Amino acid sequence: MAVNASGGTGSGTRPYVREAGPGEPGLLDALCRLLLDSVAGGASVGFLSSLTVEEAARFWSETLHALGERARLWVASVDDEIVGTVQVARCAKPNGRHRGDLQKLLVLRGHRGHGIATALMDAAERGAAESGLTLLVLDTIRGCDAERLYRRLGWQRAGEIPDYAGTPDGVLHPTVYYYKNLGTQPVKPTGD
Ligand SMILES: CC(C)(COP(=O)(O)OP(=O)(O)OC[C@H]1O[C@@H](n2cnc3c(N)ncnc32)[C@H](O)[C@@H]1OP(=O)(O)O)[C@@H](O)C(=O)NCCC(=O)NCCS
Repeated sequence: MAVNASGGTGSGTRPYVREAGPGEPGLLDALCRLLLDSVAGGASVGFLSSLTVEEAARFWSETLHALGERARLWVASVDDEIVGTVQVARCAKPNGRHRGDLQKLLVLRGHRGHGIATALMDAAERGAAESGLTLLVLDTIRGCDAERLYRRLGWQRAGEIPDYAGTPDGVLHPTVYYYKNLGTQPVKPTGD
């Protein structure tokens, strides 16, 4: 399902958000670019600044391989270039199949502040609800740009763990857990 963000980029072109699947030409390279760019920018997304292209490719190959019933991935494009991504992974436990983890929300540094993450979150939340998930959970470094975004989008703060994860420079920071109950959210029409 594709959605357009309400905001445009500096060039005036609106990001186009769609679900992506394994085997798409150029997808792996684009995802590697996104991860390397975010880590180079200091984002805490699971990797250290020593991240190599090979490591990034290995991570995304495994991620793409796992897509399907249990995990979905969306990308945002501007002028046919993939500039953002996000994933939702359904819990594998029999007693947790109603919930999913929202992961790896990444937007290229040169495209931030134009509503691309907002559009990706909207697509992921809508897709998760359509898949039957009623609860989404995520974690993020306290005080980062993403935390403000999640609050703005109605996510609820659950609590905080000190020194849980590091930024790429290896410095540990408090991690904050957020959740969003989709069961009480009406699924909005896309307008497509
Ligand atoms: C966090 C991140 C995904 C946000 O991406 P983004 O595309 O810049 O996010 P948005 O543009 O949707 O929102 C950012 C701000 O731009 C504003 N904005 C939204 N649409 C806009 C538009 N059309 N024009 C101008 N500004 C706009 C929003 O109000 C928002 O303000 P806020 O920071 O006060 O909430 C991005 O900074 C990123 O990739 N960071 C590194 C990776 C990371 O930390 N990921 C999260 C891990 S938990």
